[in-house]
Amino acid sequence: MPLLTIDDRAVTVENGVTVLEAARCLGITIPTLCHLPGKPTFTSCMICVVKDETSGRLIPSCSAPAMEGMVIHTDSAEVRQERKKVLDLLMSEHGGDCEAPCTTTCPARMDIPLMIRQIAAGQMDAAFETVTDKIALPAVLGRICPAPCEKACRRGRHDSPVSICLLKRFVADTALKVDADLRAASGSGKVAIIGAGPAGLAAAFHLARAGYACTVFDEQDEPGGQLRYRVDRDRLPAEILDREIEVIRKLGVEFRMKYRIEPGEGFKHLKADYDAIVLTPGRRPDQTHSVWEVESDGRGVQVEANTFRTSDPMIFSGGEVVHAGQMSVRAVAHGKSIACAIDQWLGGTPVVGVKKPFESRLGQLKDREIDAMMKDADPCARVEVGGYYGAGYSVDQALQESRRCLQCDCRKARDCKLREFACEYGASQKTYTVGARTTFSRTRSPHVIYEPGKCIKCGICVRLSGLAFLGRGYETVVGVPFGDSLESALGSAAADCVRECPTGALAWKADA
Ligand code: SF4
Ligand code: SF4
Ligand code: SF4
Ligand code: FES
Repeated sequence: MPLLTIDDRAVTVENGVTVLEAARCLGITIPTLCHLPGKPTFTSCMICVVKDETSGRLIPSCSAPAMEGMVIHTDSAEVRQERKKVLDLLMSEHGGDCEAPCTTTCPARMDIPLMIRQIAAGQMDAAFETVTDKIALPAVLGRICPAPCEKACRRGRHDSPVSICLLKRFVADTALKVDADLRAASGSGKVAIIGAGPAGLAAAFHLARAGYACTVFDEQDEPGGQLRYRVDRDRLPAEILDREIEVIRKLGVEFRMKYRIEPGEGFKHLKADYDAIVLTPGRRPDQTHSVWEVESDGRGVQVEANTFRTSDPMIFSGGEVVHAGQMSVRAVAHGKSIACAIDQWLGGTPVVGVKKPFESRLGQLKDREIDAMMKDADPCARVEVGGYYGAGYSVDQALQESRRCLQCDCRKARDCKLREFACEYGASQKTYTVGARTTFSRTRSPHVIYEPGKCIKCGICVRLSGLAFLGRGYETVVGVPFGDSLESALGSAAADCVRECPTGALAWKADA
């Protein structure tokens, strides 16, 4: 029974136990990708590397046996550097988009392909949740947003972009029609919001849903800011704006209109009465910045990137007072980021704002890659209904348009070990430019999608199913042998393969 030390703690294990298993006995987790408990070791990914101080060597812990007297370090700077190198190499040839280009281009980063899949499946409540997770006022934005996401839409390479903005409007209008109730968490904390424009309304919306008691103060008669006073009424009827503001009211947000916060004492009282302040008064002349007692320059109030925190730690600011002349969707995105930062602050966790995950990107696609994506999409032309001024989509039109989407995102984006480790170890797709990335292709069984470009050849599915390594050396790929179908090669192991595949190479077709 060998006795060894792992991260300065002694452990005695049975003969034949690996260093990885010995570490687990101590509650120490070492990252793995190709390891599959209960199956022969494969030792291909090397992410499980640790340092054996007795020999001075870096060793793969999933296959190295625990030996008497070993002194192991699992998380030193050297080990972490080695893991980053492993991940950089894996990522240099990785052929996948974690998020679709439409999502990464949307200033609010709405999960567009997920919303579209939910529309196609008739799951309108779920689609509304997806939209409102990132976007307050979706029926408003569905009428006025210039849709930068559509300029990035891959379908545009084939014929014309998916009509994302009208699909979002369809989801929002459907919810308004049925008077959908949005859930609000119960929490504690009082937030004052100065300014009822798009950024302030969005901050109120997300903070109220997170359980904070919000009061919005504004000097105007009605809430809406530039949405009410600067947008063409034919394009955005007041009724739509009012109904979306009503949704925010129903979340418990209090509005104090025709209310001017007096500088000096008035503002001091507000700071004493509330736990945090959101400063979104819209476009203001420079001198009024001094009213709020936060640092500003000629362009606007100065805030920390990502958290939107001002020089006063209890005041967060966004919208036009920070960046003048921006799209409303960006102001709405500011509101979401501010709500996230305030929630972190009042929750007692580090204020870092919305965390940016690792992004693998395919970049420019070749024509044959677009053709491969088109195989699963409806070839019909974009459903046109007169743009933003039109009546919007009917149910049938929305369904038809939703089927044009190429589903560019990765189905395992929230559940991919490779992405999780790439994020944790700060991996980069650009460190090694050994060659071109893997070409995108996609095979489907009735329930499972296989995308070879995302396969890291960990061999897990090969050990579990009838899939096999095909070809040799650099050309090796995991695939279906003997011209068989994906469905029969996976056989009864399909669920195990999808669950254990550490990347999005094998994923459920219908998985949201
Ligand atoms: S497999 Fe993982 S890293 Fe690759 S695209 Fe999907 S989520 Fe991103
Ligand atoms: S085809 Fe669909 S997923 Fe791809 S960019 Fe366009 S809307 Fe987004
Ligand atoms: S497809 Fe198979 S070999 Fe490739 S990453 Fe997934 S489990 Fe591993
Ligand atoms: S080499 Fe150990 S987990 Fe892959």
